[in-house]
Amino acid sequence: MGYLRCVITCVILALFFVWTGSGKSVFQWMRPDNFDEIMDRMTTVTEENCRSKPRHEIEFPSETVAQRPRYNMLLTSAIYSNRSQLLHMHNMALNRAHFYSFIYQRLNRSVDFNFQPGLMYLYMSATADVTASQGFINGSAIFYDNHCYYPNWYNKILDFNKTTPLFGPRAWREDDYAETTNYLREPTNRTVDIHDYGTGWNSNYSSQAYKTAPWYPLWLPDLTGNQDSLTKFTYAVGIKFSNETGKFIDNEFVAIPYFGPPQPGINDNEENSPSLPVKWTKPYFDCGRSNKWIVTASAPVVEYMPRYSDFIHLRRPRTVAVSAMDIEFERIDINPCPISDGNPEPNYFAGTARCKPSTMCEVIHGFGFRRGGYQCVCKPGYYYPWWHDGPFLGLEIEQATGAEYDVGFECLQVEELMVPPNEMPSFVERKRRSASLQDRFLDLISPSDSSPRVSPTEALSDSESTRQKRSTPRKVKKLVAKRSAIKSIRERMQERRFIPRYQGEKRFMRHKRDLFDQELYARMEKILYRKQNTNKGNCRTKPDYELFLPGDAGYGAERQFEGEARTALRLSHFLCDFLQNIDEYEEFGSVRGDKRLNETHILGEVLANVMSNFKILGSGAFFDRYKFRMSPPENNTDPRFVHGITREFFGPFAYTHTAADTDGTEKFRAVDYAGFKAPYTQQRWFRDMKARWQTNFEGLEQYTAKPMVRSDPNGTSLVRWEHYPLRYFAPKYEHGEWLRPTFKCDGMVDEWVVTYVAPFFGMNPLKTRLEFHGVVTVDVKLDFLELRQCPGDYSVANAFKNTARCHFKSQYCLPLPLQTPTQRYLRGAYKCECRQGYEYPFNDLSWFFDGQMMEEEYNKMLRGEPNRYDTLKCRIAGASSVTISWLLLSLSFFLYLWNRS
Ligand SMILES: *[C@@H]1O[C@H](CO)[C@@H](O)[C@H](O)[C@H]1NC(C)=O
Ligand SMILES: *[C@@H]1O[C@H](CO)[C@@H](O)[C@H](O)[C@H]1NC(C)=O
Ligand SMILES: *[C@@H]1O[C@H](CO)[C@@H](O)[C@H](O)[C@H]1NC(C)=O
Ligand SMILES: *[C@@H]1O[C@H](CO)[C@@H](O)[C@H](O)[C@H]1NC(C)=O
Ligand SMILES: *[C@@H]1O[C@H](CO)[C@@H](O)[C@H](O)[C@H]1NC(C)=O
Ligand SMILES: *[C@@H]1O[C@H](CO)[C@@H](O)[C@H](O)[C@H]1NC(C)=O
Ligand SMILES: *[C@@H]1O[C@H](CO)[C@@H](O)[C@H](O)[C@H]1NC(C)=O
Ligand SMILES: *[C@@H]1O[C@H](CO)[C@@H](O)[C@H](O)[C@H]1NC(C)=O
Repeated sequence: MGYLRCVITCVILALFFVWTGSGKSVFQWMRPDNFDEIMDRMTTVTEENCRSKPRHEIEFPSETVAQRPRYNMLLTSAIYSNRSQLLHMHNMALNRAHFYSFIYQRLNRSVDFNFQPGLMYLYMSATADVTASQGFINGSAIFYDNHCYYPNWYNKILDFNKTTPLFGPRAWREDDYAETTNYLREPTNRTVDIHDYGTGWNSNYSSQAYKTAPWYPLWLPDLTGNQDSLTKFTYAVGIKFSNETGKFIDNEFVAIPYFGPPQPGINDNEENSPSLPVKWTKPYFDCGRSNKWIVTASAPVVEYMPRYSDFIHLRRPRTVAVSAMDIEFERIDINPCPISDGNPEPNYFAGTARCKPSTMCEVIHGFGFRRGGYQCVCKPGYYYPWWHDGPFLGLEIEQATGAEYDVGFECLQVEELMVPPNEMPSFVERKRRSASLQDRFLDLISPSDSSPRVSPTEALSDSESTRQKRSTPRKVKKLVAKRSAIKSIRERMQERRFIPRYQGEKRFMRHKRDLFDQELYARMEKILYRKQNTNKGNCRTKPDYELFLPGDAGYGAERQFEGEARTALRLSHFLCDFLQNIDEYEEFGSVRGDKRLNETHILGEVLANVMSNFKILGSGAFFDRYKFRMSPPENNTDPRFVHGITREFFGPFAYTHTAADTDGTEKFRAVDYAGFKAPYTQQRWFRDMKARWQTNFEGLEQYTAKPMVRSDPNGTSLVRWEHYPLRYFAPKYEHGEWLRPTFKCDGMVDEWVVTYVAPFFGMNPLKTRLEFHGVVTVDVKLDFLELRQCPGDYSVANAFKNTARCHFKSQYCLPLPLQTPTQRYLRGAYKCECRQGYEYPFNDLSWFFDGQMMEEEYNKMLRGEPNRYDTLKCRIAGASSVTISWLLLSLSFFLYLWNRS
């Protein structure tokens, strides 16, 4: 019935349009483009019909995700915030690949079999990937190939050398708005479903016919025996173990070699080179599972296979599993601008922006797969018309009708551009007497004083600027006076779009202080001096207080290093889940429950944190005193050990060992902090965290995991785990703490770092209440932190705010990332753009002044060298458009003639 009604309505509407003759819509100027094509394909695939669709209909071309982070470009090219999610997924996929490769090869003897990660370890690890990375990762999985997984939790019904067919636990953040416990009916984002993909009727993801496993053929099945050197890489990590407080078992590092994900060579620049450790899939519809369009980052887990066999000659390193991180396609930013330097090929959505020819397209971050994520800024040599302040927003253009688009969104041409001077012209210098140099200079360069294009509100609002008043022609003033009779200026300002001069500036904000602060500038010099002059060689000779920077010198770390911090948070979430839910005495029918954590597990976890992310120089998991419990000795009769032995200290800490660069091996090392004489629990960062969380757990979030496990070794069906659902309390990102920048002069890291510390919690021995069990840390190299020198609010704890050398009367300041991704803790990461009513005066294909140039010229000026600092200003938009005057002139002449006749 509904269908019929729809047809009738359509016919009537069509007739109506034919009759009124307006069949052409006002939005017809927007031609269909690649975005519409993808949008159409996206909406035609649904949960119900996806099973019957051929593979190419439930996949998008790989170019729809442009600029995917590639392992071997991470250190050479800048990764912007529109790719930080993908970068984090990339690193987490690699993280899991390293961990499982390490742990299976390290615990490869048959006596270690029971110490390997158990069933819930795998489930909880995947859960933690998802819960700790909200906004970054939607799903996490590890998929084993056919008969490559030795389950140590079926030891009652399977021989230890037996494998399972496919096994693939995958965690996915569930939309829990309809759950009975969720009375607010809002998704909490804290519920995770974990399913074993190797079970049930539709479980053969190794088959060609299985359409929703595009990560499988990227790595598996691994038959490339002769290419092993290309696709596997031997890592050697060095570990210093400790078995009692204050002592290491051996003072030398034990080298542990293992095969892991490949390492690309320097010249491997292909998009899909076989030696990349992380590969991306095309966007695909996750049919029958999450029923979302997703993109997966995948990395290989390598093991020496077959692990338990008498036929040693058959063994070889083999890719046995894929670790996979998923994100929803809709959350990935697209770049609709035309192909350019910052937007290289291939990009499926290139050129879908609708900027006019006099403007340039700039991408706006954080839009995801949506139209309008761009703005059109004037090309060099053009300026905004006075009725429009600032860039034309893509969102506004996308809403414009054909008529609006035809007349608007254009910039006007600047006339009489100058060639940038090499240094200050001497004639300007001579003129310097009483008035400010800038005024003189502006007088010199603006050809006509009567500038009809100064925005009237701009001129009036800046009442101190006599210069601007002088330049406002009488006609404009009259116009303003007339208009303000109808609407006050304030009202009209509210209607206008407001361009802040720095992040956080509000409309009508008053400044007691200048936007450039001499005192802060001097302080910045001191901070940078200390940073530059402390190094590995001299740090031991310096007093302790010189190994710190003030806390506000680490401003921005919590935003810029969120991915790194969430790596630590993941380990904290995993430990919370494990320590709160695992009881080592539990047995579930044929399935053995997980046993206690092994030292090697945690060592592997912190090593993987460091090895998978080049920004992380060190990572540790520090257990509180007597909180790390070990399994009791075999055939235990000693009553003291009934509940296991606890170690007084256990603090595995992994770091990048830079000194070994020369011999190429053993780049990563780990030590157990328990072996040091000074206990880490006395350190400030540990004590502070403990003081906060020892008795008060207010604010911790409760997470829910719903594990579904296989019913038998062959994976016949999926059943609920004995404990269903699992709940645990864990910290949020905000519960962790960023410490001030520190030079870690400990003979291990020996670098300037900022450290993130996150707590983790277990149960007390009676399992009645939560208990603080320790902290997880990551040390991120300070050099990757970008300074924010633009003016900031008084409440912003940023040591570098208000130190940008822009000329704020005519310019405003915007952050501009430096082009050196590995060395960013430097001055000049900003640009000075011309304010409304001013224009860029030089003819050098730019439209802003670069911060590094401003700093350089300013320093030259301070040193008394020849410089052009005083010329780096915008001039009042002043070139008059003679054409209009000519028109008026001829019109009045014509009228005059006509009147006379
Ligand atoms: C375990 O791994 C080491 C190092 O890879 C190797 O030398 C050893 O033979 C392996 N042992 C077993 C039982 O596979
Ligand atoms: C859950 O995630 C969505 C999407 O990221 C977000 O908009 C929403 O605010 C989150 N909800 C909570 C309670 O955090
Ligand atoms: C630690 O290891 C050393 C060397 O293997 C051994 O002599 C010592 O007894 C061990 N200590 C403990 C407490 O097990
Ligand atoms: C597994 O181990 C048993 C003895 O423990 C042996 O008889 C059998 O051949 C082994 N199977 C494989 C596939 O190695
Ligand atoms: C991300 O932002 C940078 C700089 O703003 C830009 O060059 C790049 O093209 C953007 N990438 C995407 C995919 O939007
Ligand atoms: C960890 O595993 C090793 C075997 O590799 C074992 O000797 C050790 O006792 C285990 N530690 C704990 C705490 O279970
Ligand atoms: C533990 O007991 C079993 C059987 O009682 C015995 O075979 C085994 O050798 C004992 N292990 C140790 C370490 O004493
Ligand atoms: C699993 O499948 C194999 C072959 O399909 C069969 O021989 C075996 O008995 C099955 N095992 C169980 C526990 O059902």
